[in-house]
Amino acid sequence: MSKQPDARMWGGRFQEQTDEFVEAFTASVEFDQRLALVDISGSIAHARMLHKIGVLNDQELNAIQQGLATIQQEIEQHQFVWSIKLEDVHMNIEARLTQLIGDAGKKLHTGRSRNDQIATDIRLYLRQEISHCQQLIRQFQQGLLDLAEQHAQTIMPGFTHLQVAQPITLGHHLLAWFEMLERDHGRLAGCVKRLNVMPLGSAALAGTSYPLDREYTAQLLEFSSASRNSLDAVSDRDFAIEFCADAAICMTHLSRMAEEMIIWSSAQFDFITLSDRYCTGSSIMPQKKNPDVPELVRGKTGRVNGHLISLLTLMKSQPLAYNKDNQEDKEPLFDTIDTLQGSLRAFADMVPNIQVNQEAMYQAAKQGYATATDLADYLVNKGLPFRDAHEVVGNAVAYAIDQRKDLSECSLEELQQFDDCIGPDVFDLLTLEGSVNARDILGGTAPDQVKFQIAQCRQLLK
Ligand code: ARG
Repeated sequence: MSKQPDARMWGGRFQEQTDEFVEAFTASVEFDQRLALVDISGSIAHARMLHKIGVLNDQELNAIQQGLATIQQEIEQHQFVWSIKLEDVHMNIEARLTQLIGDAGKKLHTGRSRNDQIATDIRLYLRQEISHCQQLIRQFQQGLLDLAEQHAQTIMPGFTHLQVAQPITLGHHLLAWFEMLERDHGRLAGCVKRLNVMPLGSAALAGTSYPLDREYTAQLLEFSSASRNSLDAVSDRDFAIEFCADAAICMTHLSRMAEEMIIWSSAQFDFITLSDRYCTGSSIMPQKKNPDVPELVRGKTGRVNGHLISLLTLMKSQPLAYNKDNQEDKEPLFDTIDTLQGSLRAFADMVPNIQVNQEAMYQAAKQGYATATDLADYLVNKGLPFRDAHEVVGNAVAYAIDQRKDLSECSLEELQQFDDCIGPDVFDLLTLEGSVNARDILGGTAPDQVKFQIAQCRQLLK
């Protein structure tokens, strides 16, 4: 039985048309068109390699390169017509290429399958987007260092259990955020290292009988190597899972910062004021200024965690090699990229511009008996065992609470009721300044340490 040529690129063996619903159900072009530019880069590299090994002649290579450049332009200018009938980004571009340049376009797919093509495209795309995430992290870290420098001496309460624990400097607190981001940056670098391996040449699953120069294509696309095993290269999406895990951890860090900024900007704390640009009001309560951006970032952490679980579940138990399941990797991955980049961008811009209410921070540290540990350390230095010192200070704090004053506001006589080895030098430590200055140890909160840490962090960003 003879048939009409088929619009579907794989239509040769089919007698019936695909059900229209199934066509739409299986198509990915609505979301994978995001890969168009990396798909074109991959195709150009593949074509140059085919030319190098003699599969394409000079004219054919030229035509392909020019055709792909035209297509790129059409896409960038939103003139390209995407068709669901052509299923995905790969076949849309290839069909247009053949329309533009004729038979040479049909030779491009020599020694290639959509399976190694998509596995390559996602790697190229993710590599580029990870680099963007890393730039945003760096920008945010830079802003944190500048703010930390301004507040190396600014005293605030440090918390455990969200109860005032010991005085710290705001600079020290901000440097803790810096460290979280530094590890996030490093995790992303590790992810790129593992994903930067080129699948092209794996073809559908088993490799190809054409003598492709895979090393050459890898070099053109700046991959560190060509994959060693074709079955693995076309099928595994562990690199996408790894990125989502890294993104989930980074979002978790951002959510912690978000939470603190939300608490700090509340009327009850009043530690900071967020710029109006990052807040909105209430349609019913005229007095409200809501910290929307930090709240959204905190909330968006949930969807990134969800995407990680989606990808893990997608990959779980898949037999080798490629399965169509993998088409489902894209939406979670793309949304993870968008969410992480958006959140980083918002914080990189917002956080360095927060206004700090130093007086409120100072008063809060003072009210929480934050220097009680310093009094205990003082007694230990005078020869008391730490447990006894703990008990003595507990009694002193109970007394001060009763008198409604801070330890530093008690007189020497009052303090001596609890232990007579307490001398006038105790007041150097009972002040908040004395307390933070005393923690002049590597990693500690003393202003001198904070300045030292900032200098070290600046080196990392160089
Ligand atoms: N759209 C597919 C994906 O995202 C491309 C690979 C399709 N390969 C195939 N044999 N159907 O994974």
